[in-house]
Amino acid sequence: MKKNILLAPGPTPVPPSTLLAMAQPIIHHREPEFKPIFSQCREGLKYLFQTEQEVIMLAASGSGAMEAAVTNFLSTGDKALFVNGGKFGERWGKIMKAYGCEPVELKVEWGQAVDPAVIEAALDADPSIRAVYMQASETSTAVAHPVKEVAAITGKRPGVFLVVDAITATGVFKLPMDEWGIDIIVTGSQKALMLPPGLAFIAWSEKADTFNKTSNIPRFYFDLALERKKHIDDQTAWTPAVSLLVGLRDVLNMIREEGLEKVHARTTRLAEATRAAVKAMGLKLFAPDSPSNALTAAVIPEGVDGLKVKKLLRENYGVTVAGGQDQAKGKIVRLAHLGYTDTFDVISAISALEMALVDAGHDMVMGAGVAKAMEILRRG
Ligand SMILES: Cc1ncc(COP(=O)(O)O)c(C=O)c1O
Repeated sequence: MKKNILLAPGPTPVPPSTLLAMAQPIIHHREPEFKPIFSQCREGLKYLFQTEQEVIMLAASGSGAMEAAVTNFLSTGDKALFVNGGKFGERWGKIMKAYGCEPVELKVEWGQAVDPAVIEAALDADPSIRAVYMQASETSTAVAHPVKEVAAITGKRPGVFLVVDAITATGVFKLPMDEWGIDIIVTGSQKALMLPPGLAFIAWSEKADTFNKTSNIPRFYFDLALERKKHIDDQTAWTPAVSLLVGLRDVLNMIREEGLEKVHARTTRLAEATRAAVKAMGLKLFAPDSPSNALTAAVIPEGVDGLKVKKLLRENYGVTVAGGQDQAKGKIVRLAHLGYTDTFDVISAISALEMALVDAGHDMVMGAGVAKAMEILRRG
Protein backbone atom coordinates (compact mmCIF):
# COMPACT_ATOMS: atom_id res chain seq x y z
CA MET A 1 0.00 0.00 0.00
CA LYS A 2 1.20 3.47 -0.85
CA LYS A 3 -0.50 6.82 -0.17
CA ASN A 4 -0.56 9.18 -3.12
CA ILE A 5 0.67 12.67 -2.39
CA LEU A 6 -0.08 15.27 -5.03
CA LEU A 7 2.52 18.04 -5.00
CA ALA A 8 2.39 19.22 -8.59
CA PRO A 9 1.57 22.85 -9.44
CA GLY A 10 -1.89 21.90 -10.63
CA PRO A 11 -4.11 20.10 -10.29
CA THR A 12 -3.64 20.50 -6.55
CA PRO A 13 -5.32 18.75 -3.58
CA VAL A 14 -8.95 19.63 -2.81
CA PRO A 15 -10.03 20.15 0.84
CA PRO A 16 -12.31 17.36 2.17
CA SER A 17 -15.17 19.77 2.96
CA THR A 18 -15.12 20.95 -0.65
CA LEU A 19 -15.10 17.39 -1.98
CA LEU A 20 -18.18 16.69 0.13
CA ALA A 21 -19.89 19.90 -1.00
CA MET A 22 -19.36 18.89 -4.63
CA ALA A 23 -20.73 15.41 -3.99
CA GLN A 24 -24.22 16.77 -3.21
CA PRO A 25 -27.04 15.98 -5.65
CA ILE A 26 -26.84 18.23 -8.67
CA ILE A 27 -29.11 21.26 -8.84
CA HIS A 28 -30.58 22.91 -11.94
CA HIS A 29 -28.89 26.12 -12.95
CA ARG A 30 -32.09 27.79 -14.20
CA GLU A 31 -33.97 27.18 -10.94
CA PRO A 32 -33.97 29.58 -7.95
CA GLU A 33 -31.61 27.52 -5.75
CA PHE A 34 -28.74 28.26 -8.15
CA LYS A 35 -28.81 32.03 -7.80
CA PRO A 36 -27.64 32.40 -4.17
CA ILE A 37 -24.72 30.04 -4.82
CA PHE A 38 -23.69 31.97 -7.91
CA SER A 39 -24.12 35.29 -6.18
CA GLN A 40 -21.83 34.21 -3.33
CA CYS A 41 -19.24 33.05 -5.87
CA ARG A 42 -19.40 36.45 -7.59
CA GLU A 43 -18.82 38.28 -4.31
CA GLY A 44 -16.04 35.91 -3.21
CA LEU A 45 -14.25 36.29 -6.53
CA LYS A 46 -14.29 40.08 -6.30
CA TYR A 47 -12.64 39.75 -2.90
CA LEU A 48 -10.07 37.31 -4.28
CA PHE A 49 -9.23 39.45 -7.33
CA GLN A 50 -9.44 42.63 -5.20
CA THR A 51 -11.64 44.30 -7.76
CA GLU A 52 -14.97 46.04 -8.13
CA GLN A 53 -15.30 44.55 -11.59
CA GLU A 54 -17.38 41.49 -12.38
CA VAL A 55 -15.29 38.30 -12.43
CA ILE A 56 -16.57 35.97 -15.14
CA MET A 57 -16.72 32.23 -14.45
CA LEU A 58 -16.18 30.06 -17.53
CA ALA A 59 -16.53 26.30 -17.89
CA ALA A 60 -13.03 25.78 -19.28
CA SER A 61 -9.47 25.16 -18.21
CA GLY A 62 -7.28 28.22 -17.64
CA SER A 63 -6.29 28.37 -21.30
CA GLY A 64 -9.93 29.11 -22.16
CA ALA A 65 -9.70 32.36 -20.20
CA MET A 66 -6.33 33.08 -21.86
CA GLU A 67 -7.98 32.67 -25.24
CA ALA A 68 -10.89 34.91 -24.18
CA ALA A 69 -8.37 37.54 -23.07
CA VAL A 70 -7.13 37.68 -26.66
CA THR A 71 -10.34 37.27 -28.66
CA ASN A 72 -12.44 39.75 -26.67
CA PHE A 73 -9.98 42.64 -26.54
CA LEU A 74 -7.69 42.56 -29.58
CA SER A 75 -8.71 42.95 -33.22
CA THR A 76 -7.35 41.18 -36.27
CA GLY A 77 -3.96 42.61 -37.17
CA ASP A 78 -3.44 44.24 -33.75
CA LYS A 79 0.07 44.21 -32.38
CA ALA A 80 0.48 42.96 -28.83
CA LEU A 81 3.66 42.47 -26.85
CA PHE A 82 3.96 39.20 -24.97
CA VAL A 83 6.56 38.13 -22.43
CA ASN A 84 7.92 34.73 -23.39
CA GLY A 85 9.97 33.39 -20.51
CA GLY A 86 8.48 29.89 -20.47
CA LYS A 87 5.79 27.53 -21.76
CA PHE A 88 2.87 29.67 -20.67
CA GLY A 89 4.28 32.95 -21.92
CA GLU A 90 4.81 31.25 -25.25
CA ARG A 91 1.11 30.32 -25.29
CA TRP A 92 0.06 33.98 -25.52
CA GLY A 93 1.88 34.26 -28.84
CA LYS A 94 0.31 31.07 -30.16
CA ILE A 95 -3.22 32.23 -29.31
CA MET A 96 -2.64 35.64 -30.91
CA LYS A 97 -1.33 34.02 -34.08
CA ALA A 98 -4.30 31.66 -34.24
CA TYR A 99 -6.63 34.68 -34.31
CA GLY A 100 -4.74 36.77 -36.84
CA CYS A 101 -3.14 39.24 -34.44
CA GLU A 102 0.49 40.29 -34.64
CA PRO A 103 2.33 39.04 -31.57
CA VAL A 104 5.52 40.92 -30.68
CA GLU A 105 7.69 38.54 -28.70
CA LEU A 106 9.78 39.67 -25.76
CA LYS A 107 11.99 36.70 -25.03
CA VAL A 108 13.25 36.25 -21.49
CA GLU A 109 15.79 33.64 -20.46
CA TRP A 110 14.15 30.69 -18.67
CA GLY A 111 14.54 31.14 -14.91
CA GLN A 112 14.73 34.94 -15.17
CA ALA A 113 12.06 37.60 -14.69
CA VAL A 114 11.28 40.23 -17.31
CA ASP A 115 12.88 43.64 -16.84
CA PRO A 116 10.07 46.26 -16.85
CA ALA A 117 12.44 48.77 -18.48
CA VAL A 118 12.65 46.49 -21.53
CA ILE A 119 8.84 46.51 -21.77
CA GLU A 120 8.80 50.28 -21.52
CA ALA A 121 11.46 50.58 -24.24
CA ALA A 122 9.50 48.24 -26.53
CA LEU A 123 6.33 50.31 -26.06
CA ASP A 124 8.25 53.53 -26.72
CA ALA A 125 9.79 52.05 -29.85
CA ASP A 126 6.46 50.98 -31.33
CA PRO A 127 3.41 53.10 -30.44
CA SER A 128 1.16 50.78 -32.45
CA ILE A 129 1.44 48.07 -29.75
CA ARG A 130 -1.97 47.83 -28.08
CA ALA A 131 -1.34 45.53 -25.16
CA VAL A 132 1.15 43.70 -22.97
CA TYR A 133 0.42 40.04 -22.16
CA MET A 134 2.43 38.38 -19.40
CA GLN A 135 2.39 35.84 -16.57
CA ALA A 136 2.46 36.85 -12.91
CA SER A 137 3.88 33.42 -12.10
CA GLU A 138 5.43 31.46 -14.98
CA THR A 139 4.77 27.93 -13.79
CA SER A 140 7.19 26.24 -16.22
CA THR A 141 10.18 28.06 -14.70
CA ALA A 142 8.87 28.97 -11.20
CA VAL A 143 9.54 32.66 -11.85
CA ALA A 144 7.44 35.58 -10.56
CA HIS A 145 7.36 38.48 -13.03
CA PRO A 146 7.15 42.11 -11.77
CA VAL A 147 3.49 42.83 -12.49
CA LYS A 148 3.20 45.94 -10.30
CA GLU A 149 6.06 47.66 -12.13
CA VAL A 150 4.69 46.72 -15.55
CA ALA A 151 1.21 47.95 -14.55
CA ALA A 152 2.76 51.31 -13.62
CA ILE A 153 4.12 51.52 -17.18
CA THR A 154 0.93 50.50 -19.00
CA GLY A 155 -1.18 52.58 -16.62
CA LYS A 156 0.39 55.75 -18.05
CA ARG A 157 -0.64 54.82 -21.61
CA PRO A 158 -4.33 55.09 -22.46
CA GLY A 159 -3.79 53.12 -25.69
CA VAL A 160 -2.17 50.09 -24.05
CA PHE A 161 -3.82 47.55 -21.78
CA LEU A 162 -2.12 44.96 -19.54
CA VAL A 163 -3.19 41.31 -19.41
CA VAL A 164 -1.91 39.11 -16.59
CA ASP A 165 -2.11 35.33 -16.49
CA ALA A 166 -2.44 34.79 -12.76
CA ILE A 167 -3.23 31.09 -13.01
CA THR A 168 -0.59 30.23 -10.40
CA ALA A 169 -0.59 33.68 -8.76
CA THR A 170 -4.18 34.31 -7.65
CA GLY A 171 -4.45 33.22 -4.03
CA VAL A 172 -0.67 32.81 -3.84
CA PHE A 173 0.71 36.34 -3.62
CA LYS A 174 -0.50 39.92 -3.67
CA LEU A 175 -1.99 40.97 -7.00
CA PRO A 176 -4.66 43.61 -6.31
CA MET A 177 -6.27 44.23 -9.67
CA ASP A 178 -7.81 47.65 -9.11
CA GLU A 179 -5.10 49.09 -6.87
CA TRP A 180 -2.27 48.20 -9.27
CA GLY A 181 -4.24 49.01 -12.42
CA ILE A 182 -4.10 45.58 -14.01
CA ASP A 183 -6.52 45.66 -16.95
CA ILE A 184 -7.24 41.96 -17.37
CA ILE A 185 -6.59 39.06 -15.01
CA VAL A 186 -7.16 35.41 -15.83
CA THR A 187 -6.96 32.46 -13.50
CA GLY A 188 -8.07 28.84 -13.17
CA SER A 189 -9.64 26.55 -10.60
CA GLN A 190 -7.04 23.80 -10.18
CA LYS A 191 -4.26 25.79 -8.49
CA ALA A 192 -4.49 27.95 -5.35
CA LEU A 193 -8.28 27.82 -5.63
CA MET A 194 -8.01 24.21 -4.45
CA LEU A 195 -10.63 22.89 -6.89
CA PRO A 196 -10.59 20.25 -9.60
CA PRO A 197 -9.78 21.51 -13.12
CA GLY A 198 -12.70 22.88 -15.14
CA LEU A 199 -13.29 26.52 -14.19
CA ALA A 200 -11.53 29.56 -15.61
CA PHE A 201 -11.99 33.14 -14.47
CA ILE A 202 -11.48 36.52 -16.08
CA ALA A 203 -12.05 40.12 -15.03
CA TRP A 204 -11.30 43.32 -16.93
CA SER A 205 -11.04 47.04 -16.24
CA GLU A 206 -13.01 49.92 -17.74
CA LYS A 207 -10.01 50.69 -19.91
CA ALA A 208 -9.99 47.15 -21.27
CA ASP A 209 -13.74 47.41 -21.81
CA THR A 210 -13.23 50.14 -24.40
CA PHE A 211 -11.09 47.66 -26.37
CA ASN A 212 -13.78 45.00 -25.95
CA LYS A 213 -16.27 47.32 -27.62
CA THR A 214 -14.13 47.70 -30.75
CA SER A 215 -12.64 44.18 -30.91
CA ASN A 216 -13.58 42.45 -34.17
CA ILE A 217 -12.35 38.89 -33.62
CA PRO A 218 -15.19 36.40 -34.19
CA ARG A 219 -16.28 34.64 -31.01
CA PHE A 220 -19.20 32.62 -29.75
CA TYR A 221 -18.71 30.51 -26.60
CA PHE A 222 -16.28 32.92 -24.94
CA ASP A 223 -18.29 36.11 -25.45
CA LEU A 224 -17.37 38.03 -22.32
CA ALA A 225 -19.76 40.97 -22.77
CA LEU A 226 -22.66 38.51 -23.03
CA GLU A 227 -21.40 36.54 -20.01
CA ARG A 228 -21.15 39.69 -17.94
CA LYS A 229 -24.76 40.61 -18.71
CA LYS A 230 -25.83 37.14 -17.57
CA HIS A 231 -23.58 37.12 -14.48
CA ILE A 232 -25.13 40.36 -13.21
CA ASP A 233 -28.43 38.50 -13.15
CA ASP A 234 -26.77 35.51 -11.39
CA GLN A 235 -26.88 33.47 -14.54
CA THR A 236 -24.54 32.19 -17.25
CA ALA A 237 -24.93 32.13 -21.02
CA TRP A 238 -24.34 28.38 -21.25
CA THR A 239 -24.73 25.46 -18.84
CA PRO A 240 -22.28 26.19 -16.02
CA ALA A 241 -20.11 23.60 -14.27
CA VAL A 242 -22.66 23.48 -11.43
CA SER A 243 -20.83 21.11 -9.07
CA LEU A 244 -17.59 23.01 -9.44
CA LEU A 245 -19.42 26.24 -8.60
CA VAL A 246 -20.74 24.63 -5.42
CA GLY A 247 -17.11 23.77 -4.60
CA LEU A 248 -16.04 27.28 -5.53
CA ARG A 249 -18.42 28.80 -3.01
CA ASP A 250 -16.87 26.56 -0.36
CA VAL A 251 -13.22 27.44 -1.11
CA LEU A 252 -13.99 31.14 -1.47
CA ASN A 253 -15.59 31.05 1.99
CA MET A 254 -12.47 29.33 3.34
CA ILE A 255 -10.20 31.97 1.80
CA ARG A 256 -12.37 34.77 3.14
CA GLU A 257 -12.47 33.29 6.61
CA GLU A 258 -8.69 32.91 6.72
CA GLY A 259 -8.18 36.31 5.04
CA LEU A 260 -6.26 36.85 1.81
CA GLU A 261 -3.21 38.30 3.56
CA LYS A 262 -2.96 35.26 5.82
CA VAL A 263 -3.34 32.92 2.84
CA HIS A 264 -0.47 34.75 1.15
CA ALA A 265 1.64 34.68 4.32
CA ARG A 266 1.06 30.94 4.81
CA THR A 267 2.05 30.22 1.21
CA THR A 268 5.12 32.46 1.46
CA ARG A 269 6.31 30.58 4.53
CA LEU A 270 5.99 27.22 2.77
CA ALA A 271 7.76 28.63 -0.28
CA GLU A 272 10.63 30.01 1.80
CA ALA A 273 11.01 26.72 3.64
CA THR A 274 11.05 24.76 0.37
CA ARG A 275 13.64 27.01 -1.23
CA ALA A 276 15.88 26.92 1.83
CA ALA A 277 15.53 23.13 2.06
CA VAL A 278 16.43 22.65 -1.60
CA LYS A 279 19.56 24.75 -1.11
CA ALA A 280 20.42 22.93 2.13
CA MET A 281 20.43 19.61 0.28
CA GLY A 282 23.01 21.07 -2.09
CA LEU A 283 20.74 21.74 -5.07
CA LYS A 284 20.41 24.99 -6.99
CA LEU A 285 17.19 26.89 -7.59
CA PHE A 286 16.19 27.26 -11.24
CA ALA A 287 14.76 30.73 -10.51
CA PRO A 288 17.03 32.09 -7.78
CA ASP A 289 16.45 35.81 -8.35
CA SER A 290 12.68 36.16 -8.65
CA PRO A 291 11.07 32.94 -7.44
CA SER A 292 7.32 32.44 -7.48
CA ASN A 293 5.81 31.44 -4.15
CA ALA A 294 3.51 29.00 -5.97
CA LEU A 295 6.18 26.42 -6.61
CA THR A 296 9.90 25.76 -6.39
CA ALA A 297 11.96 24.45 -9.28
CA ALA A 298 15.01 22.52 -8.04
CA VAL A 299 17.85 21.88 -10.49
CA ILE A 300 18.77 18.21 -10.67
CA PRO A 301 22.52 17.78 -10.06
CA GLU A 302 24.82 17.15 -13.02
CA GLY A 303 25.02 13.46 -13.88
CA VAL A 304 21.63 12.57 -12.36
CA ASP A 305 18.69 11.79 -14.65
CA GLY A 306 15.86 14.15 -13.69
CA LEU A 307 13.23 12.07 -15.45
CA LYS A 308 14.31 9.11 -13.35
CA VAL A 309 14.09 11.15 -10.14
CA LYS A 310 10.52 12.18 -11.00
CA LYS A 311 9.62 8.58 -11.79
CA LEU A 312 11.21 7.29 -8.56
CA LEU A 313 9.32 9.90 -6.54
CA ARG A 314 6.09 8.40 -7.83
CA GLU A 315 7.01 4.74 -7.89
CA ASN A 316 8.92 4.50 -4.62
CA TYR A 317 7.12 7.12 -2.53
CA GLY A 318 3.75 7.91 -4.21
CA VAL A 319 4.74 11.54 -4.58
CA THR A 320 3.64 13.33 -7.76
CA VAL A 321 5.60 16.44 -8.69
CA ALA A 322 6.10 18.13 -12.05
CA GLY A 323 9.25 17.75 -14.11
CA GLY A 324 10.74 20.26 -16.53
CA GLN A 325 9.25 21.07 -19.93
CA ASP A 326 11.06 21.66 -23.23
CA GLN A 327 14.61 22.93 -22.58
CA ALA A 328 14.24 22.13 -18.85
CA LYS A 329 13.09 18.54 -19.46
CA GLY A 330 14.97 16.12 -17.23
CA LYS A 331 16.83 19.01 -15.62
CA ILE A 332 14.45 20.21 -12.92
CA VAL A 333 11.70 19.03 -10.64
CA ARG A 334 8.94 21.42 -9.63
CA LEU A 335 7.49 21.15 -6.13
CA ALA A 336 4.22 22.97 -5.47
CA HIS A 337 3.28 24.73 -2.25
CA LEU A 338 0.12 26.60 -3.20
CA GLY A 339 -3.50 26.13 -2.25
CA TYR A 340 -4.41 23.33 0.13
CA THR A 341 -0.85 22.55 1.24
CA ASP A 342 0.75 22.74 4.63
CA THR A 343 3.88 22.00 6.66
CA PHE A 344 3.89 18.25 6.14
CA ASP A 345 3.34 18.51 2.41
CA VAL A 346 6.60 20.46 2.21
CA ILE A 347 8.38 18.05 4.55
CA SER A 348 7.06 15.09 2.53
CA ALA A 349 8.20 16.67 -0.73
CA ILE A 350 11.68 17.43 0.57
CA SER A 351 12.22 14.05 2.23
CA ALA A 352 10.93 12.19 -0.82
CA LEU A 353 13.21 14.24 -3.07
CA GLU A 354 16.23 13.47 -0.88
CA MET A 355 15.43 9.75 -0.98
CA ALA A 356 14.69 9.69 -4.72
CA LEU A 357 17.95 11.50 -5.50
CA VAL A 358 19.91 8.86 -3.59
CA ASP A 359 17.84 6.11 -5.26
CA ALA A 360 18.82 7.64 -8.62
CA GLY A 361 22.49 7.35 -7.71
CA HIS A 362 23.25 10.82 -6.40
CA ASP A 363 25.96 10.86 -3.76
CA MET A 364 24.59 12.88 -0.84
CA VAL A 365 23.85 12.59 2.85
CA MET A 366 20.09 12.61 3.35
CA GLY A 367 18.38 14.81 5.92
CA ALA A 368 19.89 18.28 5.47
CA GLY A 369 16.89 19.49 3.44
CA VAL A 370 14.32 18.10 5.85
CA ALA A 371 16.19 19.54 8.84
CA LYS A 372 16.17 22.98 7.21
CA ALA A 373 12.45 22.76 6.39
CA MET A 374 11.66 21.70 9.98
CA GLU A 375 13.76 24.54 11.37
CA ILE A 376 11.80 27.09 9.33
CA LEU A 377 8.35 25.57 9.74
CA ARG A 378 8.55 24.72 13.44
CA ARG A 379 6.15 26.78 15.54
CA GLY A 380 6.81 27.76 19.08
C1 LIG B 1 0.78 30.08 -15.56
C2 LIG B 1 -0.14 29.16 -16.30
N1 LIG B 1 -0.79 29.63 -17.36
C3 LIG B 1 -1.62 28.85 -18.06
C4 LIG B 1 -1.86 27.54 -17.71
C5 LIG B 1 -2.79 26.73 -18.52
O1 LIG B 1 -3.91 26.42 -17.81
P1 LIG B 1 -4.79 25.13 -18.16
O2 LIG B 1 -3.85 23.98 -18.20
O3 LIG B 1 -5.76 25.11 -17.02
O4 LIG B 1 -5.43 25.39 -19.46
C6 LIG B 1 -1.21 27.00 -16.59
C7 LIG B 1 -1.41 25.60 -16.20
O5 LIG B 1 -0.58 24.96 -15.62
C8 LIG B 1 -0.33 27.84 -15.87
O6 LIG B 1 0.30 27.37 -14.78
